[in-house]
Amino acid sequence: MRLPRSVETAEIEGKRILVRADLNVPLDGARVADDTRIRAAIPTLRLLLDRGAAAVTVCSHLGRPKTEEDRAKYAMAPVEQRVRELLPDDRLQVLENTRFQAGETKNDPMYARELADDNDVYVNDAFGSAHRSHSSTEAVAHLLPAYAGLLLLSELEHLGRLLGEVEHPFVIVAGGAKVDDKLAVLENLGGRADRVLVGGKMAEQLREHNPLSFPVELPLDVVAASAFAEDAEARVATVDAVPAGWLGLDIGPSTAEAFGAILSEARTIFWNGPMGVFEWNRFAAGTRAVAEAVAAADAYSVVGGGDSVRAIQELGLADRVSWVSTGGGASLELLEGRDLPGVAAIPEA
Ligand code: 3PG
Ligand code: MG
Repeated sequence: MRLPRSVETAEIEGKRILVRADLNVPLDGARVADDTRIRAAIPTLRLLLDRGAAAVTVCSHLGRPKTEEDRAKYAMAPVEQRVRELLPDDRLQVLENTRFQAGETKNDPMYARELADDNDVYVNDAFGSAHRSHSSTEAVAHLLPAYAGLLLLSELEHLGRLLGEVEHPFVIVAGGAKVDDKLAVLENLGGRADRVLVGGKMAEQLREHNPLSFPVELPLDVVAASAFAEDAEARVATVDAVPAGWLGLDIGPSTAEAFGAILSEARTIFWNGPMGVFEWNRFAAGTRAVAEAVAAADAYSVVGGGDSVRAIQELGLADRVSWVSTGGGASLELLEGRDLPGVAAIPEA
């Protein structure tokens, strides 16, 4: 894989640095609900301050603001406050949400020019947004000497290991709801895996019709529910005994055991997407079993995608997998073998 040049090779002393981070964190009202992405952005900011930057200006988008009211909802103030708590330094400032500027998502060079003005160097550390061709991730990289931040490089390195030679057995676990987005990734990666285990809604779709060029392991049993509701009537059923009109909202216990046995033998694992509606406790057991099996395996294990990352964090298993990616869409596009515009815009190492 082509690697962009590192911020560690940049001349920083006395310079004014513009940093694009992905501080697009979940909010709970005006409170940061999960600060994983903010904490992940700190090492690069600290490096720049330690190396004597005159000023470090951080920019990011937050949410997908559309209306005027969204300006209050997606203001950067709570994020800025958290950044300051983690890294108090007068040279540091956080700009307002880049998506409050109409030009941002159009990759407008005028807005990029505004961001570049008064800065000497651009550092992109926003792996989670690297699949976006926006003013702050792409256009601005052509206006200043551009470098990759430490998080961006770590993500490329860890996810890149799945694109190169891997240790076998290589097991992919796929699930979640955004089925069509993910089938392309699976097609690109799955042929290189020894086993592909599929749960969740994706399994239902593949059972009807499998467009992939290789076989996959589908659930043998499911937790079937009479409706898509947290308190729906539910029972374990083999897949051929699911009552008409009922939905499989989790993989069943026999499937969880079978998937767990396959994962325990794996030497390389990539997991994306929960096995069911794990936000509802009654349908969480399958996702929990997979998370535990991934954590327990003696394997190089990567978990990517918002929901599976949330599951592994909530279960307290994050430090038992090899790499938890801060990128959802970005990690998927990378694994599909696509060039990420935010990475391509930085000169090569
Ligand atoms: C994400 O959360 O996936 C990234 O921050 C990108 O956000 P976006 O999907 O709104 O561009
Ligand atoms: Mg997204």
